[in-house]
Order: sequence, then structure tokens, then C-alpha cells
Amino acid sequence: MKKRNLSTYHFRTYGCQMNELDTEIMVGILKQRGLEESSEEDADLLIFNTCSIRDLAERKVMGKLGQLGRRQKNQVIGVTGCMAMAKKSSLFRKFPHLDFVLGTNNISNLDAVLDEVLTTNTQVFRTEDRFEENLDYFIAHRKDPIKAHVSIIRGCDKFCTYCVVPYTRGQEVSRSPDSIVEECQKLVDAGYKEITLLGQNVNSYGKDQKEWNCLFHDLLYRLDKIPGLLRIRFMTSHPVDITKELMYAIRDLPSSCNLVHFPVQAGSSRILKKMHRIYTKEEYLEKVALLKEIVPNVALGTDIIVGFPTETREEFEETYKVFEDVGYDVAFLYTYSPRKGTPAMRWKDDVSPEEKDFRLKKLMDLYATIAAEKRSHMLGASVQVLLERENKDQKHLYGRTRCWKKVICEADPSQIGQEVSVKITGFHHQTLIGEVVS
Ligand code: SAH
Ligand code: SF4
Ligand code: F3S
Repeated sequence: MKKRNLSTYHFRTYGCQMNELDTEIMVGILKQRGLEESSEEDADLLIFNTCSIRDLAERKVMGKLGQLGRRQKNQVIGVTGCMAMAKKSSLFRKFPHLDFVLGTNNISNLDAVLDEVLTTNTQVFRTEDRFEENLDYFIAHRKDPIKAHVSIIRGCDKFCTYCVVPYTRGQEVSRSPDSIVEECQKLVDAGYKEITLLGQNVNSYGKDQKEWNCLFHDLLYRLDKIPGLLRIRFMTSHPVDITKELMYAIRDLPSSCNLVHFPVQAGSSRILKKMHRIYTKEEYLEKVALLKEIVPNVALGTDIIVGFPTETREEFEETYKVFEDVGYDVAFLYTYSPRKGTPAMRWKDDVSPEEKDFRLKKLMDLYATIAAEKRSHMLGASVQVLLERENKDQKHLYGRTRCWKKVICEADPSQIGQEVSVKITGFHHQTLIGEVVS
């Protein structure tokens, strides 16, 4: 028999913040079972919490799993996360040494699955398509003592034609406002100062549960009442669902940070239609204009895919122009990667890798130029910084502004966890340098 008692675990987490949070929840389940963290080499239980968003994300894990098969150690090995949903039991055929595959909607079954693996010594898999609201979020084991992620809605109903998420995370299911408020209150009681509300599309929050009478902006008003909760962030906001009520909440609520992650994906209306983003370039830009009008100090973030099937150089130039006009503060830029099972697989991946790289590089250069301009405009300005930890140089404290810019400043370590006013005096690469003025 290959397996024995489990006393240590090691996680490898890939992908987005939702996966990071799911790992924290699974760690909580393992700690409750009495397991302790250990190195990848020594752990009795090794879990890969995986991502399927692009081919590279999957290839990294496949390579790693292959290596482990050759290593022949006496470890229990599991795959969780989006690849578990995308590949399901086919993973067992490819990796006979794999012990379990646990989908994104089944993480609450981790304990039971481990028992089954240990008692039957067979390969076990659970990958249900729909999330049942039975997950104990309160069990999550977080390493960061100041900032926490809190899930408010799981799944995605948008079905952008390039994206695996609706298949790997299932339908949208909102979490009850009472449960969210209770978790946030507990986090604040435990000393947390900043909470990031997570969902593939937070703007859909509450629409699947009309009887709660609590849409996303209503939730923000409720959370803002928690004394001691300094900052609330949220991501992601699908442009189609942003409302004026939400914009007013961002403007008016003291806790709400003014960075809105508002992914455009592409700047050509023809490509946006093919992507099934359900807005045109003009509609997107109108929403940006309204957001900037209602929230004058708003900072905007985006995700962009270059080289979507049939995208011409001219259409890419429209994306470039949108980037310039909006002047994003934060951008995640990607080349298109065809994903099995998505509608876009019907179309030939016809933009060459060299052309995709050219477009990516051009956008990256623009992003760097805009960021440098924004940094120099900040010289002399005062910003609010939440001090998170000592900086690596051990001379400064490190924190972020409300719109997510990194700042280092000289301050007493006893001030960690406080939001202080900092005057910007310089910068080093992307990091702003400042002096505490309050
Ligand atoms: N729900 C979020 C994004 C989740 S995925 C939203 O809609 O904004 C994160 C990002 O990965 C996406 O915004 C998109 O830019 C990128 N992405 C998704 N599928 C991709 C693919 N097939 N190829 C390249 N990038 C992709
Ligand atoms: Fe994917 Fe689109 Fe859903 Fe975002 S909104 S997760 S890009 S399908
Ligand atoms: Fe990846 Fe799944 Fe997140 S595909 S980006 S881990 S939702």
C-alpha cells in the first residue's frame, strides 16, 4: 500500500486571487485535521491548486506532475482548482500516480476525499458543475495579518468566447450578505484593515438572489458600517454591469478604495462583439467618462488580450488608443491563448506568435510610459498609505496607496496596520518613496 498517515502538507497555488483564497480555505481544513505545513519535498500531502486560463498556466502544472511521477515518493498528490474542472478524470490517465482530483465547487469535500483516498487507496474525483453554498469560509487560514480576500460571488455567467472560467467555476452564485458581513466583522476583530471582495464579476452580486434585496452597492454600504475596516477593494467589475449607484458608493463611502478594475479586453467593437463582451468601444468609453465624472480621483485598471482571432493591426491600434485615452493605472496584458471547450476555438488562431508579441510589447511600453508620467505627477503630492510590513531593505515600511501604488517610507514598525498620510518625494523603479506627514 502506497499511502500512510498524513501529518504535513504543501500547496502550490497558480492563477488568480480566487485560487489563493480557495487555498487558504483548504489549508484551514487541513489544519483542522491536524496537518502542518512543510516543504514540497517532505510533505505527506501535495496539492496543486491549478489555473486553466492560458495554455502556459496548464503546461507548468503538467510538467510538474510528470516530474513527480518519475520521483516515486510516497506522497499523496491531488489536483484542485480550474484544471481539475477542465480536465477532470482524464488527469488520472495521464498521471497514474495522482490520488485525487477535486473541483472548484467541491473544496468543502477535501476532508472526505482524503479519508477515501487513505482508506481505499484508489483514485478519487469530485467535480460538480454547480457550487452549493455550504463552504465554511470562516475556516480560512490567512498568512497576511493586514489584508484579506473575501469571496462574495462565485462562478461566471458571462461566457466571453475566449474564456474557460464559466466552465471551470460554474454558474454565478452569490454568497449571503449576512455571511459576508459576519466574516468581514470577524476579520476586523482579528486586526485586519483591508478587505478585497472577490468575484469574477462583483457587479452581478445579488442578482441571482432577488429576495435578499442586496445588490453590490448595497453590500458596500453595509460593509462600510463596520468600525475599524479602513479599506474595501473589489475585483473584477464587468463594464456592462456597472451602475451609477455603484459609482456613488465608490465616491461616498470612506472605506471604498478608488481603484476600479474595469477590463476592456480589446478596443475594437468588432473584436469585442466576437469576444461576446456585450459592449462596444463607445459604450465602454461612455462608462469610463461617467465614472471619471462621478468619482473625480478614480484610478482605472484593465485586462487586455491582444491577437484574438482575426484581430488586424488596425484593430489593435484601436486598443492602443483606448489605453492612451483612458490612461490606466493598472494593466494586465496578455496574448490570446486558445482554450479547449470555448467558443473561440471555432476560429483559427490566425495572428502569428511574432505579431502577438509585437502588440503585447507595444502595449507594455505604453503602459510603462504612462506609469512613469503618473509617478512624476505624484511628486510633492500627499497620499494615504496603509503600512503593511517592513520593506525588504529593512530601513523603510512598505504599503500601498488607495489606488494600489506601492510606497516606501521611513516610519516606526509600531505603525504597521495604520493608514498614514505620506508626501511623495521620489521613486525607485515602480515604487514611490515618501515621508510620513501625519
Ligand atoms: N472575470 C474577469 C477576468 C478573469 S480571467 C473579467 O472578466 O474581467 C483574467 C483575465 O485573463 C481576463 O480578463 C482576460 O484578459 C485573460 N484571459 C482569459 N482568457 C484568456 C485567453 N484564452 N487567452 C488570453 N488571456 C485570457
Ligand atoms: Fe471570463 Fe468573461 Fe467571465 Fe471574466 S467575465 S471570467 S473574462 S467569461
Ligand atoms: Fe485561473 Fe481559474 Fe482563476 S482559470 S485565473 S484560477 S478562475
